[in-house]
Amino acid sequence: MKEIKKVAIIGGCGHVGIPLGLALADRGFTVTLLDKNEKAVQLLNEGKLPFIEDGAEVLLRKYVNKTLFITMDPVCLKEQHCVIFVTGTPVDEHLNAKVHAVLDVVKEYLPLLTEEQLIVLRSTLYPGTVRIVENMLLRSNFKCKLAFCPERILQGKGIKEIFELPQLVSGCSEEAEKEASFLFGKVAKKIILLSPEEAELAKLMTNSWRYLEFAIANQFYMIAEAHGVDFYKVYNAMTDDYPRARHFPRPGLAAGPCLFKDTMQLASYHDNGFFLGHSAMLVNEGLPNLLVEQLAKKMGGSLKNKKIAILGMTFKANNDDIRESLSFKIRKLLEQKMAFVLPSDPYLKETLPLEKALEEAEGIIIGTPHDAYKELVLSVPFADCWGIIRKE
Ligand SMILES: NC(=O)c1ccc[n+]([C@@H]2O[C@H](COP(=O)([O-])OP(=O)(O)OC[C@H]3O[C@@H](n4cnc5c(N)ncnc54)[C@H](O)[C@@H]3O)[C@@H](O)[C@H]2O)c1
Repeated sequence: MKEIKKVAIIGGCGHVGIPLGLALADRGFTVTLLDKNEKAVQLLNEGKLPFIEDGAEVLLRKYVNKTLFITMDPVCLKEQHCVIFVTGTPVDEHLNAKVHAVLDVVKEYLPLLTEEQLIVLRSTLYPGTVRIVENMLLRSNFKCKLAFCPERILQGKGIKEIFELPQLVSGCSEEAEKEASFLFGKVAKKIILLSPEEAELAKLMTNSWRYLEFAIANQFYMIAEAHGVDFYKVYNAMTDDYPRARHFPRPGLAAGPCLFKDTMQLASYHDNGFFLGHSAMLVNEGLPNLLVEQLAKKMGGSLKNKKIAILGMTFKANNDDIRESLSFKIRKLLEQKMAFVLPSDPYLKETLPLEKALEEAEGIIIGTPHDAYKELVLSVPFADCWGIIRKE
C-alpha cells in the first residue's frame, strides 16, 4: 500500500470540508481544499472562516499555506494520493434524492483523477449510490479504489467531534477499505467497518432517528398545549432523575440541511413506506404554523398589520447557518397573515438589532434559542416552544 500523504477535498470549503481538512492537516497530511465558491476560497486563504465553526480558526491560521492549501484550480487533483468528495446530495421538489448530482461531480473531475488514488465519497448518499458511482467508473474503464466514509459531525462542532466520533468506513474493494481505514484511523478514535450499503443506511438512519426524536418531543408539546397544560412542567417531571428519559429532547424547530432531507431520502428508498418518517415531517414542519397560531390567539385572533418580531433566524443556536431554517417559514406564514415581520438575529448583520426589534414589536416568536435571549423578559405576547423565555 502506497502511504497516503496528500489529500484533496472537493467541496472543501463547506461545512463538512473545512473541519475535515483542518483535522487531516492537524494529523500531518498535506491537504488541498478545492471549491467553486470564490469568496470562501479567498477568505480561507486570508486565514478567515466563511462561517462559525468552533475551534477552526486557530487550526486554519496554523496550517494555511503551509500544509493546507485552498484553491479553485482542479489541476491540483493530479498530484494527490487521495481525493475526497463532500459536495451535497440534494432532494428534488418531490423529495426524491438527486443521485445524478453525485454522479455529475464525480464525472466532472474524472479526467483529473488517477487509478492509483483512493477516492472517498463522504456526503450523505441515497442507498445504492456508491455502487452506482462504482459502476459508472468501471464503464468509463476507470478501476479506482472507491470508499464511502460518511460524515456524522454536528454543525459548528465539527473540529471537536471529528476526533471523538467513531468513523464508519466502507470500501468497494479490500484495498479501498484498508486505505480509507488508514486515513481516517489518523483522525477518528475508532473505525467501524461496514459494506457500502450498510454505511449508506447507517448514516441515513442516524439522521432520521434524530429527526424522529425531535418530532416526538414536538408532538408531545402540541398535545400539552392543545389541552392547556404547561408542557415544560411535564417535561421536567418526565426527565428529572429518570434515567430512561434522560436523552429526551426538548421541543424546537427541527431544521437545517440534513435531518429533513435524509429522512425523506430514507422514505423514498423504502418506496414511501417509512410511515414514522413522514409523520415526523408532518409534526416538525407543522410547528411553525402552531407558533403563529399561538401568537395570533394571544393577540386577539388576528395578526393583520401587527409588528411581529422573529428572534433568531438561523437553524441552530449560537451559529450563523440559515440553511433550511424554519424561521423563514415562520416569516412566510406571518406575511400571509399580513403582519409586518421584523427578523432579528445577533449572528446575521442584515437583520434588525435586538433592541430595535424589542422596541417595535407588538408580538414575538422565538425562532432560535440563542444564548443572547436567555435573560430576556418580554412585555408583549410571545410564542416560545423552546421554553427559554422566563414567564413572569
Ligand atoms: N453540515 C453538516 O454538518 C453535515 C454533517 C454530515 C453530513 N453532511 C453531508 O455532507 C454533504 C455536504 O454538506 P455541507 O454541509 O458541507 O454542504 P456545504 O454547502 O456547506 O458545502 C458544499 C461545498 O461544495 C462546494 N461545491 C459544490 N459543487 C462543487 C463542485 N462541483 N466542485 C467544487 N466544489 C463544489 C460548494 O461551493 C460548498 O462550498 C451533504 O451531503 C450533507 O448532507 C453535512
